[in-house]
Amino acid sequence: AIDPQFHENREQVDEHEGHSVWGPVDEPEELGIHGTHVAVDFDLCIADGACLEDCPVDVFEWVDTPDHPESERKADPANEAQCIDCMLCVDVCPVDAIDVDAG
Ligand code: SF4
Ligand code: F3S
Ligand code: ZN
Repeated sequence: AIDPQFHENREQVDEHEGHSVWGPVDEPEELGIHGTHVAVDFDLCIADGACLEDCPVDVFEWVDTPDHPESERKADPANEAQCIDCMLCVDVCPVDAIDVDAG
C-alpha cells in the first residue's frame, strides 16, 4: 500500500502537469508518487481503472507509462484541486495505491 507518510519519507523530485512527483524516480521502472492531496503511487498502480470510473469530479486521467513492470498506464491525479474528499478512490483501488489527505 502507498505510504501515507510519503511527504515526510520521500523527497519531491519533480513536477508533472502542475502537481508534485515524490521520488525516487528511475524511469521507466520506477516512477514514484504523483500528487500531494490526492497521491497515487505509480509503482503500485496496476491500471485497474476503478478510480477513474468512480471519482465524482474526474480527478484522474490516464498517463502512458510504457515499460513499467506493473502496468503501461497509470491514474494521474491531474485535477487533484477538485477533490471533494469522498474517499471513494481510496476504497476501490485493489492495490491501495491512492492516499487522500482529507485532513
Ligand atoms: Fe475523487 Fe473522491 Fe478520490 Fe477525491 S477522494 S479523488 S473526489 S474519488
Ligand atoms: Fe491504479 Fe488503483 Fe486507480 S490500480 S488505476 S490507482 S484504482
Ligand atoms: Zn502526474
